[in-house]
Amino acid sequence: MVASVVELGPAARAAATLAAVPTTLPDVTVRVGFLGGGFIARYHAMQLRLAAAPNELVAVHDPDPGRAAAFCAAEDGEPVDDVAAVIERVDAAYRSAAAAGMPTPVTPAGSAI
Ligand SMILES: NC(=O)c1ccc[n+]([C@@H]2O[C@H](COP(=O)([O-])OP(=O)(O)OC[C@H]3O[C@@H](n4cnc5c(N)ncnc54)[C@H](O)[C@@H]3O)[C@@H](O)[C@H]2O)c1
Repeated sequence: MVASVVELGPAARAAATLAAVPTTLPDVTVRVGFLGGGFIARYHAMQLRLAAAPNELVAVHDPDPGRAAAFCAAEDGEPVDDVAAVIERVDAAYRSAAAAGMPTPVTPAGSAI
């Protein structure tokens, strides 16, 4: 007997991909930090508030203390002194400042940022 191979079309491939997406959320609260507390940080924090996945905004570092304080007053979290202090507290962080001159940190859990 000869096995037949059926090539999936784009719609079938998309359906197969969607079928593989988990429909339940993991029972964990993701601890989130921000490196930079300016405009785009506020935008992403708003998205976090609307996200279905449980999350907690834990820490922000901004070299401008006024920016960090304003961000935390409006959103949540605690201002911290440097990037390392964010990374040690969180599972994932937004790099919400210009990347130039900023190292690409990795959280202890291994999330690339
Ligand atoms: N504004 C947008 O719509 C938009 C969209 C996509 C990407 N971006 C990019 O996001 C980055 C930030 O843009 P923005 O509009 O939020 O600017 P912004 O000036 O409002 O905020 C940037 C913040 O980063 C802080 N910062 C500077 N160096 C830092 C460092 N080493 N560590 C931590 N914080 C530091 C600044 O003090 C400032 O508060 C830029 O690279 C921008 O190109 C912006």
